[in-house]
Amino acid sequence: MQQKLGRYAMLAKRWAWLVVLGIVICGGATYIATLFMVPTYQASTTIIVNLKSSSSPFDSVNASVLAVPTYAQLLTSPQVLEPVIAQHQGLTLKQLVSMIAVKSQSNTELIELDVTNTNPQLATDLTNQISQSFAQFSNEQFSVNVQVLPAVFPSDPASPKPLLDSSIGALVGMGLAIALIIVFEWSEDRLVNIDEVHKLLKMEVLTAFPLLNRKQRQKKTHEIATVQESYRMLCARLNLLQQSNPFKLLMVTSAVAGEGKSTISANLATFLVKSGKKVLLIEADLRLPTLNKHFQLEKRLGFSSALTEPWSQLEAKLTGQATEVPGLFIVAAEVPLRNSSDLLQAPQVAQIFEHFRNAPFDYVLFDTPPLLPVADTQLLAAYIHTAVLVVDVSKSSRKMMTHAKEILNKTRTNVLGVIINKSQLAYQGYGYGYGYGYGYTSHYLDDAEQQPDIDASPTLSMPRLEVPMPVPSSPFSVYPEQREP
Ligand SMILES: Nc1ncnc2c1ncn2[C@@H]1O[C@H](COP(=O)(O)OP(=O)(O)O)[C@@H](O)[C@H]1O
Ligand SMILES: [Mg+2]
Repeated sequence: MQQKLGRYAMLAKRWAWLVVLGIVICGGATYIATLFMVPTYQASTTIIVNLKSSSSPFDSVNASVLAVPTYAQLLTSPQVLEPVIAQHQGLTLKQLVSMIAVKSQSNTELIELDVTNTNPQLATDLTNQISQSFAQFSNEQFSVNVQVLPAVFPSDPASPKPLLDSSIGALVGMGLAIALIIVFEWSEDRLVNIDEVHKLLKMEVLTAFPLLNRKQRQKKTHEIATVQESYRMLCARLNLLQQSNPFKLLMVTSAVAGEGKSTISANLATFLVKSGKKVLLIEADLRLPTLNKHFQLEKRLGFSSALTEPWSQLEAKLTGQATEVPGLFIVAAEVPLRNSSDLLQAPQVAQIFEHFRNAPFDYVLFDTPPLLPVADTQLLAAYIHTAVLVVDVSKSSRKMMTHAKEILNKTRTNVLGVIINKSQLAYQGYGYGYGYGYGYTSHYLDDAEQQPDIDASPTLSMPRLEVPMPVPSSPFSVYPEQREP
């Protein structure tokens, strides 16, 4: 139940803009249209049909009630309307009939006659003339006593009614927006909650990072308690997995671009160091290098030139450049390359990976390109063999995730699990398999966020934030601005 509510809350958050847009556009357009419409007025009268019965007054009333539908039809007959038309030059029977609405009130002796026209005086005159003609006709032909109440002059138009009409327009807009949302959600084939990802991929969900707003993305990772805790959980899980099934090379990958691989790689590397490990972070996304957004990197040999230079000149340089975090070294991509998949098939690649396998680190972490659009990650997987899959459910559909999993299976990569990123549900407390109920973790961590950060050791903080850098730079955030792929 809670999951369902969470799903609806997420959908509401994601699509609120479309509903508001539908309401504003349709409501606004209807309002503007009503301003240009010619107003029409409706005059009304009530006609009382009174059939006389010889037996009793009760029978008279009954007979009248039964006769009312028949008499209502007579109101639009030519015999009743011709005398009225004769009084108005140029008015045809067809035109007059189109102005008339007759409603017989059920179980009463009453007939309501409405006449609509752009001229309120004409509408009133026609109503009175039709009812008089009907009374005369009924009396002469059927000896029926018909009483008529005089029509009241309509001072307000019957249509348009700007407020009512624009409210109806807004409701229609809302309905259209909801229909569109259903179509989008259905056609996009998106998963919205953590359980669905777990069930679809049949992989352990290692952790979930919440979707951060712009302000939160400016903050340091350790200033957001939920995020910090998720990284700690992730590191603990990886360290345990490493103990039970040793691996050193680990790639962080995802189905498509923009799911958060680089952000997670940069933070994960730092948190692994915090957990006491020595880490080498390799920027293996050679087409779109972004690690320089996360770390102050010197311009020097990177992974891209490692693929082109002869092995004899390389080995000593592939140890990576030191960062402000003792224990964290980085081999950046250097310049963006378009032909990286060709370079990843160069003869020295095997030697490069052999070097990484023997490097004096506990983890060699690879920030890789997305799996679906390019072949690079498949080529890398042939050497790395172990991966974590980052999933942003708003970016990759079921099909994409399944396809990414198939690619990893084909390359015989051991996928340790899934990291859900930008989750709208993560704030509700993840607690997957840890016995926390939804809502518990978030309260606990919100409280923790209020506490002063007592972890002041430079080793335990994010690199560029705590240590004054020689080169001044724009304010650094752990989550750089959204980039559209
Ligand atoms: N949890 C998050 N909440 C909000 N924005 C995020 C989150 N994680 C990453 N981002 C943003 O998403 C964008 C893409 O992230 P990035 O790590 O470069 O993706 P990738 O390497 O998979 O292409 C960046 O602007 C980053 O700041
Ligand atoms: Mg990236």
